[in-house]
This record gives sequence, C-alpha cells and structure tokens, in this order.
Amino acid sequence: MDESVRTPHVANDADFAGPQTGAAAPPEAPLDAAGMPAPLGREAPLIDPFQRRISYLRVSVTDRCDFRCVYCMSEDMTFLPKREVLSLEELDRLCSAFVHLGVRKLRLTGGEPLVRRNIMWLFRRLGRHLESGELDELTVTTNGSQLPKLADELYAAGVRRVNVSLDTLDPDKFTAITRWGKFDRVMEGMEAAKRAGLKVKVNAVALKGVNDDEVHRLVEWAGAEGFDLTFIEVMPMGDIGTEQRIGQYWPLTLVRSELAERWTLEEIAYKSGGPARYWQVVETGQKLGFITPLTHNFCESCNRVRLTCTGTLYMCLGQDDAADLREVLRRTDDDGELVAAIREAITRKPKGHDFVIDRRRGTRGASRHMSVTGG
Ligand SMILES: C[S@@+](CC[C@H](N)C(=O)[O-])C[C@H]1O[C@@H](n2cnc3c(N)ncnc32)[C@H](O)[C@@H]1O
Ligand code: SF4
Repeated sequence: MDESVRTPHVANDADFAGPQTGAAAPPEAPLDAAGMPAPLGREAPLIDPFQRRISYLRVSVTDRCDFRCVYCMSEDMTFLPKREVLSLEELDRLCSAFVHLGVRKLRLTGGEPLVRRNIMWLFRRLGRHLESGELDELTVTTNGSQLPKLADELYAAGVRRVNVSLDTLDPDKFTAITRWGKFDRVMEGMEAAKRAGLKVKVNAVALKGVNDDEVHRLVEWAGAEGFDLTFIEVMPMGDIGTEQRIGQYWPLTLVRSELAERWTLEEIAYKSGGPARYWQVVETGQKLGFITPLTHNFCESCNRVRLTCTGTLYMCLGQDDAADLREVLRRTDDDGELVAAIREAITRKPKGHDFVIDRRRGTRGASRHMSVTGG
C-alpha cells in the first residue's frame, strides 16, 4: 500500500462542508504504477462466534448533518472535535482492510455523508474495489439534500443504488420532522439521482400521529416514480425524546395490514443484505420493505458491523460493546495489526440486540445517537 494512504493523519478535512462543489480538489494520494494500492493479501473471511460471515460494513463518515430530524438529533447538537474524526485517508485504509477481509458491501452513512468535505474522493477511492471485483456494492444512505449536485459523480464512482430518507410527502410535515430540511431540494435530489441512472430506495420512518395518514400515498408515489420503499420502525436512540418515540411507535405489522387492505402484497425472497423483509406491490411492481428491529428478531442472519466516524467498531447496533480501531490506525502503519484488531472485535459480536420498547416495562435502547453509529 502506498505510504501516503497509510500515514497516520489527523483529520483536516472533516468539516461540515455545506454545499459541495463537484470540482473540489480531492486530497488525492499518489497511486502505484498500476494506479492501485498494493493489496493486503489474501485473508481468511471474518466469521463470528455464531458462524455468521461478516460481509457488510456500514460506515458513518461524519456525525454532522444539514438537517435536525426530531428522532435523530437535538436542535443544539454538539459535534465531535475534528481531530477525533477519521480523515478520509484513514477511512479508506480501514474500509479497504475490511474489503480485503471479505466485506462485499460498503454503505457510507452518517450524519449526512454527502455534506462531508471532499467525500467524493472517498467514493472514488473505494470505487477501485468495485473495479477489482473485491467489492460487490458501494452505496450510500442520504437525506438527499446534496444529490442535485452529486448524483452524477456518485454514479461515476461506481455507486448504483442510493437510499434516500423521506418520511412524508407533505412539505409542512417535512419541515416539522427535519427542522432544517428543504423539501423541494430533496425532491430535486431524487430526480437528479434518477437521471444519473441511480436506483433509489426511499426509507420512511413510520411515526404514529405524524405520517400514519400517508402510507398509501407514499406507496402510490414511490410506485409511480419507480422507487422501492422501506418503512422503518422508530427506535429509541441516544437521549432524543424517548417518551415521544414511545408515543410515535407504530409496529410495522400494523402498517403492513393497513397497506394490505388496499394493495396486493406478495412476499418475495429478495434480500438487500440488511434486516428488511420485502414484499412486491403487485399494482406498482415496486418492492416494499419493512425494517422491524423491535418486533422482528433479525439477529440470526446478521452479516453486518458498523463503524463510526471516530473509528469505533460496533458489532451490534443495539449493544454498547465496541472496538477502538482508530487507536490502531494512528499508532501503526502495520496493516497486520489492524487486521488482528478487526478479527478480535469480530470474536465479540453478540448473538443479538437488546432493544425494548414497551410502555409497561419501560424502554431500553442504545445509548448513542443514530447519527453517531450510522443508521
Ligand atoms: C441516521 S440517518 C444517516 C443518513 C442520512 N443522513 C439519512 O437521513 O438518510 C440514517 C437513517 O436512520 C434513520 N433514523 C434516524 N434516527 C432514527 C430512529 N430514532 N429510529 C429509526 N430510524 C432512525 C433515518 O430516518 C435514516 O433513514
Ligand atoms: S436522520 Fe439523517 S438527515 Fe435526519 S438528522 Fe439524522 S443524520 Fe441528519
């Protein structure tokens, strides 16, 4: 691997970039003669103690965001000091180590991944693993605000699918949920993604009393646009309005039965590599997914781990046990040590999560925000 990629490096590019210019000069590291970094070598795959093969890494590339969704962030969030956030070069080194260890799918998330300065450098850099065939998919979860500018560049870097979060088609409700979001901009972003050739999946958090009157409209709209749609159960995360979350909790079994009254839903075997179960909406031909971490136990088939923007690896979204990979990254250039630290962490992947959302028995959730772990 070339030295410039491996040099421990204090983040200097982790600013909230705000609107990006597609032409921003990337902190491009020199490549070797073949234009590629030397591979780490063949590595045995990552298998956890429950014989699950770890093939999916979700990476939060920033804790910052241009929105303040009520279930995710408080309005006066305090963000991490820049020195604690991995530089883009460190993220590349770490993600590449996972790819060499058999991770086939990488999803960049956040915070809002597309507001990180020079983030397209990282997409292009990781895109080399698609070209080599080591990686099957490089993808992103975004609030859509930067897609009008970045959709074409994402496609050029090898991204083919994007998840865009949108809970409502009502601009006023959208403002109430996201606080700082611009509805028209997100709509524009989805159109830009479509034009760029990206397949769009819409993620909507189901919120009782907020968007429960819109589920049919969302299915109809997504169908007409050619978007797949996934509903997500609201989760108690961090210390953000736990009581309100309990009040808004709307089990997706109920959402699905309501939808089944109007739409013909056929369960399909499709798997996205995540915990969603999918149905086909016969009338629209689009997929409809339900992510039910609270009512459906998907842990047996969990193939994923999550990395925060500070290099902390969480082996389970709902548990607090973690491994500090930044310490290894910044202490040594030896990728052997990095690989050993990753392997050790995987031996600690728990059998399952611990979320409970129950009025009578109280609520137990993860103590960190979704924007830190990466949703
Ligand atoms: C944390 S965001 C990060 C990526 C990007 N900013 C976005 O909004 O798509 C990822 C996903 O987590 C979801 N999310 C955030 N907080 C949540 C919560 N408390 N319960 C369920 N989903 C949540 C968001 O709706 C979004 O779809
Ligand atoms: S859900 Fe995404 S867009 Fe909303 S505040 Fe969290 S990170 Fe930002």
